[in-house]
Amino acid sequence: MILSIESSCDDSAIAITEIETSKLIFHKKISQELEHSVYGGVVPELAARLHAEALPKILEQCEEYFPLLKAVAVTSTPGLAVTLVEGVTMAKAIAVALNIPIIGVNHLVGHIYSLFIEKKTTFPLTVLLVSGGHTQVMEVKSLTKIETIAKSMDDSFGESFDKTAKMMGLGYPGGPLIQELAKGGDRLKHNFTVPLHQSPLIAFSYSGLKNAVRLAVQKADGDKSQYKDIAASFEHIACKHLTMKLKKYFKTQRPKTFAIVGGASANLYLRSQIEELLKPHKAELILSELRYCSDNAAMIGRVGVEMYKEKMFSSLDELDIAPRSLL
Ligand code: KG4
Ligand code: ZN
Repeated sequence: MILSIESSCDDSAIAITEIETSKLIFHKKISQELEHSVYGGVVPELAARLHAEALPKILEQCEEYFPLLKAVAVTSTPGLAVTLVEGVTMAKAIAVALNIPIIGVNHLVGHIYSLFIEKKTTFPLTVLLVSGGHTQVMEVKSLTKIETIAKSMDDSFGESFDKTAKMMGLGYPGGPLIQELAKGGDRLKHNFTVPLHQSPLIAFSYSGLKNAVRLAVQKADGDKSQYKDIAASFEHIACKHLTMKLKKYFKTQRPKTFAIVGGASANLYLRSQIEELLKPHKAELILSELRYCSDNAAMIGRVGVEMYKEKMFSSLDELDIAPRSLL
């Protein structure tokens, strides 16, 4: 069995995964959303302190599996430096105490493998990762053959929902709150410009849309009845930007399988828009289970199993955190 730890942002999670079958034996996550909600976003130092409290509490609950552990896997990149350290330090202590190898997992690879929790892997596939930190298209051939085709030049898709919610005083995380508010709104009320619509590049940008939304919120001058139309129009353009760029991608590439992963892949409007886009290309859409879209340790454990089989271990001195991903 492998014990895996996730602490790259605001979720403290630990999982135990069976190596031979990839069966998830234990998974517990303590989310910090409530604590960060008052600030409208994640406060790194507060997040680190909460991880330091939560991780040992969860670890206590899986002590019975310690004699069966063959390795410990931990998110080491990318993420907030002060929170990654909490998980990596704990993982190192476990590795020393139990005399087992340590595996450093890339959180983005974790999101890709959230598709395969308790399942066999199926490659090749093209993946759209939409989370609070990333908006990225990747072609995945195997565990080690992952090529990034496009990424955001500034804010991420999920972050733009968080910032829109913050402007409206709704709380954090903004994604589910904006999705809910947008349900009753007019998607065409505000004609926000689609980011990079004239650029031939397949790349993403959300800072311009964020500023356009800010102006609309300011214009509403505290009249909250206007927020649902702003939310609906924002969600529409945020998703249209993704589908327009993916359309360009499909002009030259014909993936048989397309996946959406990451916390923001829970967005139902995005899912429906991408389903429409894929229809003429006859590409199959695969998604992670809803409970594994946002950050969790089960996905880190699933990668850990594959890395264990390939003996991709780190030495204790070598394994360090890297806030920025190489992917
Ligand atoms: O993957 P995740 O849990 O953490 C990161 O690795 O960043 O993603 C969290 C992000 C947040 O920005 C949150 O607002 C967004 O995912 N999110 C959504 C929805 N649910 C979560 N964004 C849009 N629509 C949603 N339904
Ligand atoms: Zn994530």
